[in-house]
Amino acid sequence: MLAEIREVVRAAPLFVPRTPRGKPMSVRMTSAGSLGWVSDRGGYRYAPRHPDGLPWPAIPNSVLDIWRQVSAAARMPECCLVNFYDQGARMGLHQDRDEADFTQPVVSISLGDDALFRVGNHSRGGKTRSFWLRSGDVVVMGGDARLTYHGIDRIAPGTSTLLPRGGRINLTMRVVSASDLGDTPAG
Ligand code: SIN
Ligand code: FE2
Repeated sequence: MLAEIREVVRAAPLFVPRTPRGKPMSVRMTSAGSLGWVSDRGGYRYAPRHPDGLPWPAIPNSVLDIWRQVSAAARMPECCLVNFYDQGARMGLHQDRDEADFTQPVVSISLGDDALFRVGNHSRGGKTRSFWLRSGDVVVMGGDARLTYHGIDRIAPGTSTLLPRGGRINLTMRVVSASDLGDTPAG
């Protein structure tokens, strides 16, 4: 899987996304699939092309296999977001809600150094719980948990030997578009 992710990053280099207010995020990011997640002054959204203008590479088979095994989903993912965390990177609490079909889960794969994952509630605030995600861990955010607030407080450097220069890769597979079946009444 790591070799396949390296191919993805070769075709679609990691970039530093900016929040809609212009602040650089601490993770570096790219995507595979028909749509990739981007963020800049234009807002958070999915786009058919990398910021450099090239189409995103295909989602690797080893990654799709995990989706088939754990998602129990009717649809296949359209995006595999690749997040790279160096020693100091983190990700604030957020919901994954730029997708159109919340009946489909988000499946997350962790590779490399351990990360402290914080899980909250369906709205901001309230009690949160934290646990360590280790290399090879897979998390399914589906059903009731699909819109749960989550984030990464910190990385524990040197806890994995998978990536020669350290750090952590997180992959999240997402169904992005609305279902063909549609949720709205006919007419
Ligand atoms: C994300 O929420 O997009 C990434 C979560 C993680 O890095 O585990
Ligand atoms: Fe997320």
